[in-house]
Amino acid sequence: MHMYDLLIKKRDGEALSAEEICYMIHAYVAGEIEEYQMSAMLMAIYFQGMTDEETAALTKAMAESGTMVDLSAIDGIKVDKHSTGGVGDKTTFIVGPLVAACGGKVAKMSGRGLGHTGGTIDKMESIPHVRIALAQDEFFRIVNTIGVSIVGQSDTLAPADKKLYALRDVIGTVDSMPLIASSVMSKKLASGSDAILLDVKVGSGAFMKTVDDGLALARLMVHIGEANGRRTVALLTDMDCPLGQAVGNANEMREVIATLRGKGPADLTEEALLIAANMLYLCGKGSYEACQVKVKNALSDGSGLEKLAAMIEAQGGDVFAVETKEAVITAHEAYVYASSNGYVTHMDAEAIGLSAVHLGAGRLNKGDTINYRAGIYVLKKIGDTVQAGEALAKLTSDSKEGLADACKRYAAAVTIGDTPVQRAPLILARVT
Ligand code: URA
Repeated sequence: MHMYDLLIKKRDGEALSAEEICYMIHAYVAGEIEEYQMSAMLMAIYFQGMTDEETAALTKAMAESGTMVDLSAIDGIKVDKHSTGGVGDKTTFIVGPLVAACGGKVAKMSGRGLGHTGGTIDKMESIPHVRIALAQDEFFRIVNTIGVSIVGQSDTLAPADKKLYALRDVIGTVDSMPLIASSVMSKKLASGSDAILLDVKVGSGAFMKTVDDGLALARLMVHIGEANGRRTVALLTDMDCPLGQAVGNANEMREVIATLRGKGPADLTEEALLIAANMLYLCGKGSYEACQVKVKNALSDGSGLEKLAAMIEAQGGDVFAVETKEAVITAHEAYVYASSNGYVTHMDAEAIGLSAVHLGAGRLNKGDTINYRAGIYVLKKIGDTVQAGEALAKLTSDSKEGLADACKRYAAAVTIGDTPVQRAPLILARVT
């Protein structure tokens, strides 16, 4: 088999066979296919698309390019969760502990920030001394005893995705449906959980900008999960605004604690409760309605927060360390003000995510170090009324230049109009 022939086939809009896809992925990971040839293939896929059968074969080949984790040493049904990426999305730290408090098991392997989107592992590392790399038996022990553990994805988990994602990132082929579906689902299949809850973000801060595209992606991923014997549910959630008020790392962890104390922003609380109820349902812990009641109780009786604190302690940290002033105070801070009276009619959440990156909360270049204290506190969201001179957001950074640049970006990302608008519903659809 030759990559050249496969390239011509895909360029001309023909479907590749499962055997051809398997050859291509394994040869690429082994370093036997040149980056320029794989770049051409990704671009051909971007323009020609893939059939559902091709996407399923690509997902399987990518999952099997590395370790297929066996979680059978953990008792009960294990449920995983994946967000396709958003701004201010810290739900994993709320839903994992809530599900664990209700008797579910969450063995979560997470990644770092990509582009304008924040990463679970980066947020977690804002807690001093926390360990995100655990030996397998320790990871299993924590999930068996506490019910939840969050660790970084090891290099051996779906290495094909790691290589392909880095390439897609620099050749403009991230927002391709078959490539996103295979990237997400290869990691989920390799991670070994029995059930998967997918949070498909839609809107200005998401890779999928329209509900139709989000729905198509959700259906494709649910189909791949179910075809591989995993119970899979997808929620389509709004990402036209950052979720909650905090965007950054330590400030997001503070917001997680506040939410688990019942004092979090309404949108974050509502979305987290819905995701947690769906995850608990997938664990077989009763009817969906019963699961909704259970997760609400775990929030109001504080048992969710206890689980978060216990998990972080088992992994070497103290979650409440992010509540100290030192954890969030930076050398500089500034407010972005409204230039006119009116209503917030639009927010470019992707540009807001990039503002946070410029503050130091994310990476502009591979290998950049993160400033965990830097970030944004969103004060006005879509639908809110504003007066000229009123603060839209507070931004914090240790870099004066970064702060000035981020403030400009933030101001340009918010549109104020004369006509009142309503924010889209948080949950746009549920796909099973
Ligand atoms: N998240 C992923 O894991 N992969 C993608 O391609 C996009 C979002």
